[in-house]
Amino acid sequence: MKLIQVKDKDEMSRLGAKHIIHRVNNQPKLVLGLATGGTPLGTYHYLVDEYNKKRISYQDVTTVNLDEYVGLTQKHPNSYHTYMEENLFKFIDIPLNKTHIPDGSADNLDKECQEYDTLIESLGGIDLQLLGIGENGHIGFNEPGTSFDQRTHVIELTESTRVANARYFSKIEDVPKFAITMGILTICESKEIVLLVSGENKAEALDQLLRQKKEDEAFPASALIHHPNLTIYADESALSLY
Ligand code: GLP
Repeated sequence: MKLIQVKDKDEMSRLGAKHIIHRVNNQPKLVLGLATGGTPLGTYHYLVDEYNKKRISYQDVTTVNLDEYVGLTQKHPNSYHTYMEENLFKFIDIPLNKTHIPDGSADNLDKECQEYDTLIESLGGIDLQLLGIGENGHIGFNEPGTSFDQRTHVIELTESTRVANARYFSKIEDVPKFAITMGILTICESKEIVLLVSGENKAEALDQLLRQKKEDEAFPASALIHHPNLTIYADESALSLY
């Protein structure tokens, strides 16, 4: 695990984007795993900036997102489909048929999960997975207690995750209770992982992750500690308890 300490969220976002751009430029057909939430937003803005400066092309890149809410249509303003479209995809040259996000509105969710795994397998796995971390240590939407041996599956969101994500909805009751998430096994099989952590509300989770010696399913991010190629970009406030 490589920990890179940065001053603030902006520096984390800039270095996160630089990391991704470097990889894409070295391997134009990169399979890039993407995350949502507040944390990677700045990184996406930097990726768009660099694209506008013609320093990168995504024409041959394939993306696979970590997760999606169950019950929201792709066009719903709070779906992760909309998030990715509005914050990244519509500003860059990635062909839309090379972007993949689980479909939370599928009639048969189990089939959707299996097809998502088959897709990732057919791509040869993920080359670089971008991650954030939840306040309770979740990665993707793998909540505490999720088996580390699971691949894509449906998960019931914890109350604390629904409360943390309620800021994007008009009221807490509107936050879906379930999500489809890539499983921890798939995430950990990524050849490389970049974890972005910013803000005091993440300090406890980050402190626990950095001190954790053993994998523990009660703390999902601990699945990452033995990953051979993990880089963490963390800002001062996220590191304030460490
Ligand atoms: C969300 C997402 C995760 C994300 C995490 C942290 O619920 N499913 O992929 O990393 O929770 O979110 P944020 O970056 O908004 O703090």
